[in-house]
Amino acid sequence: MGLAGIEDDHVKLIMIGGKGGVGKTTCAAAIALKLAMDKRKVLVISSDPAPSLSDIFEKEVGDREVRIHDQYELYALEVSSEIILKRWKKRFGPEIYDVVSSFADVDYDFVDYIGSAPGIEEEYMLNFIMELVEGKTYDVVVWDTAPAGHTLRLLKLPELFLSHMEAATKFYMNIYSYLEKIKEAVKLNESKKTLLEIIANWESLAERIVAFIRNPMMVKYLIVTIPEALGVKLTERVICELEDNQLKVENIIINNVVKDSDCEFHRIRRTMQSHYINLLENTYKGKNLMVLYCAPYEIKGVERIMEVSRSLFP
Ligand SMILES: Nc1ncnc2c1ncn2[C@@H]1O[C@H](COP(=O)(O)OP(=O)(O)OP(=O)(O)O)[C@@H](O)[C@H]1O
Ligand SMILES: [Mg+2]
Repeated sequence: MGLAGIEDDHVKLIMIGGKGGVGKTTCAAAIALKLAMDKRKVLVISSDPAPSLSDIFEKEVGDREVRIHDQYELYALEVSSEIILKRWKKRFGPEIYDVVSSFADVDYDFVDYIGSAPGIEEEYMLNFIMELVEGKTYDVVVWDTAPAGHTLRLLKLPELFLSHMEAATKFYMNIYSYLEKIKEAVKLNESKKTLLEIIANWESLAERIVAFIRNPMMVKYLIVTIPEALGVKLTERVICELEDNQLKVENIIINNVVKDSDCEFHRIRRTMQSHYINLLENTYKGKNLMVLYCAPYEIKGVERIMEVSRSLFP
């Protein structure tokens, strides 16, 4: 049996998480290719600091969408932290500056400071992906989400960031509020909106993002792991955190499994792996677990990725 629920038409975003080096990018590429072969327009995004999609697809992928395949509508995009911050600043900078400078004496560097807050990347990415989905630019987006820690951080946002901004502005607004109703009267320079309007916009954006990532019909969470102690432990932690935040993980890929144990080395290895595979299977009875065998070669180029797709969707 293949990965569950991933191919459904209503799925708009597939988030791939897991520890470093376990095969997230490989699986993201294979899933994206499979969906594209099913005649869907697919974007695979990596927000990994290392340019991994370029490597695996053997094609220069950058911060603009690149078509990967002539026949299938498969596009790839690699966004670095700098690019994300730049776009984030362009999108939210003027508004934030407008708000904060209305009550405090700050220069525009303040926006850089806010932009360096943890989680900004994820917030921007989610907003970006949500806009792609809502704009129907692609049928489905596969997001290869860098190391596991980032996936977790994303959950705290955008709620955290926005409530922080809101608390700060409200605090200052209380000072203003000696004069009743002034908050509605204060028009901000650039946007000509009131402070309250802007805060309300932030709030509703945050709510929309949270509702989007929690919609199990549209968004699927998939964890890649390896059958080793560390892999199992980290998987446990990631899944707990995701599910504590009402983000349900349906699929787990156990990667790098030794298929044929025809020599001493592989027999020992396979025995070790079997122990952890059993452990995972017992822990996640309600989930769909898939074994992905370790290939003897490097997984690079469309042909090899296609072989992984066939294993994931037999
Ligand atoms: N099933 C497999 N068989 C053989 N090689 C594999 C398999 N899965 C992954 N690899 C190889 O392992 C390496 C790491 O895989 P990949 O880059 O997909 O991991 P990752 O989780 O994205 O890593 P990172 O956390 O660094 O982004 C790559 O060289 C890839 O080709
Ligand atoms: Mg990767």
